[in-house]
Amino acid sequence: MEKDTWNQTIHEIRSKLDIVQIISEYLPLVQKGKNFFGVCPFHDDTHPSMSVSREKQIYRCFSCGARGNVFTFVQEYEHLTFRDTLQKLSEKAGVPLQGFTYKKKDDKYEKYYQMYEITNKYFLNNLKTNQGKQAREYLHGRMITDDMIRDFGIGLSLDTSNDLVTLLSKKGYNLQELNDLGLATNNRDLYCNRIMFPLKDLSGRIVAFSGRRYDGIKENKYVNTKGTPIFQKGDILYNYYDARESVRKKNQVIVMEGFMAAIRSITIGLTNVVSLMGTAMTKEQVALLKRMSQNVILCFDGDEAGRKASISNGEELEKQGFQVKVAELSDDLDPDDYIIKKGKESFLSLIENAIPYRDYKIKSLKKGVDLNSNEEVSAYIDRVLQEASKISDEIRRELILKSLEKEFNIGYNTLEKRLLTYLDTQSKPKEEAPPVPIKPRVGKKDKYEIAERTLLYDMLMNQKARNHFERGELVFPTEQERFLASEIIYYYKIYGSLAAADFYTYLQDKKELLQLLDEVLELEIEEEFTEDRWNAYVRVVNEKNKNLEIERLKKTMKELNDPLEQAKIGERIRKLKMGS
Ligand code: CTP
Ligand code: MN
Repeated sequence: MEKDTWNQTIHEIRSKLDIVQIISEYLPLVQKGKNFFGVCPFHDDTHPSMSVSREKQIYRCFSCGARGNVFTFVQEYEHLTFRDTLQKLSEKAGVPLQGFTYKKKDDKYEKYYQMYEITNKYFLNNLKTNQGKQAREYLHGRMITDDMIRDFGIGLSLDTSNDLVTLLSKKGYNLQELNDLGLATNNRDLYCNRIMFPLKDLSGRIVAFSGRRYDGIKENKYVNTKGTPIFQKGDILYNYYDARESVRKKNQVIVMEGFMAAIRSITIGLTNVVSLMGTAMTKEQVALLKRMSQNVILCFDGDEAGRKASISNGEELEKQGFQVKVAELSDDLDPDDYIIKKGKESFLSLIENAIPYRDYKIKSLKKGVDLNSNEEVSAYIDRVLQEASKISDEIRRELILKSLEKEFNIGYNTLEKRLLTYLDTQSKPKEEAPPVPIKPRVGKKDKYEIAERTLLYDMLMNQKARNHFERGELVFPTEQERFLASEIIYYYKIYGSLAAADFYTYLQDKKELLQLLDEVLELEIEEEFTEDRWNAYVRVVNEKNKNLEIERLKKTMKELNDPLEQAKIGERIRKLKMGS
């Protein structure tokens, strides 16, 4: 495809999409003035340091410097190649990539994904055959319907054969690859006679399986795919990909232990749910949650392990700036059992009535306390007050004091005095989120830099400015500026028009120019182009050029030995200084 048609297509796709809307599909954005703000997904943060401009169709993180247009965002967020990003967004925009020869980049993982696709199809089919009868009965017995089997891609591995290895070998995949990818072990099928739950990566591709035995034996209940080049259990959340939309709409994510719990919740319409696949929560999973929503509801199993996990994970999430609530189950039930036993409405109301994490923790402190022992009671009250001191809402703190006062008949003042000592030891800044850095990092630009950037800005936005430039009125002092200026002129010559946001894609391989483009677009110039401004800034730039030339001459002069030559240069310097 010709380069100009190519860029035109890119422009067409980009202009059909609104960056604010697209980014909102990935993370919550809040409007403040002209721009939108959200927590940047490209670095570890809890504050909304990413600004998105609807007007300019670009985003920028003031903290880590991530920036670009809708293509760069999706590409970096989803870890796609540029071609895949284009493919994806062209579908979204409804702009066909006609004549676009899709040269598949030799993505080494592409093959692995294909192997998993094939494997999944094979497992799906097994479940439908005669050999799958017992497994189907098991699933139905657990209230997993055929619809659910289809929706969640549940399959079956067989133990009677080495079918999967045979199938994939026939298709040309080698045994080493099958072993490396966790589909085989010692060149034989790894999964034997298990119900297979596919696990997806952050982009929704199947990258692993969890296989459950269904013979009623508890040992080795699950076998999970080992770590492979495309899968690390701790790097994903079950249902992450499919939950994103619903999490965004509700601005809330429910976190569970098991994937059966998530599956069951989804079937009762609770779709903003993910699961850890265990009780331990990894740093990576916290980072994923951060991408989803600040509001988390923990709904772990109603056993001791689940309660412990609620406390430890809740504490960590609060530390990371999340608003955490806990929905507690009882009687050793997990969400799956609970919904089956007590029904949808009961479960939904449990989620609806989830309590703030700190209250949950305070409640949990009471377990096992001997209320007849003064010592234990006073230690308990002390711990409650310590926890209360971490609550920033005064009213909630007061409610806790009041309830302690009533329950243990202790003077309110005594309780309050103790609470205050803990409040003082709390690091104050942690209570309130630090102010949002919404001001761009202006840095200290000197008048020359401001002039240069403004002239480039004018050239990007205004034909008159470009005409001036083409008349040779202006030479930019740095190579990069000259380069950017000539790219702007070139782009207009070919395409006739230019949207600043397109330029990000056009210049995507020229990192230094992107940096400069960024600084130019950061200027937020309100006034229209005027000849006066142009001329004034051209004078400033020319003054800088002159100073640079003088410095260059001085240096040459020092290096010369011939007094005559030196005098000649001295004369030139004098003339330059006088302005001729
Ligand atoms: N898990 C695992 N290996 C195990 C046990 C559990 O990987 N031997 C993971 C699974 O991802 C599972 C989660 O931990 O989803 C929660 O475990 P558990 O509550 O025991 O499983 P359930 O999801 O309740 O599954 P089931 O109802 O089929 O027993
Ligand atoms: Mn269960």
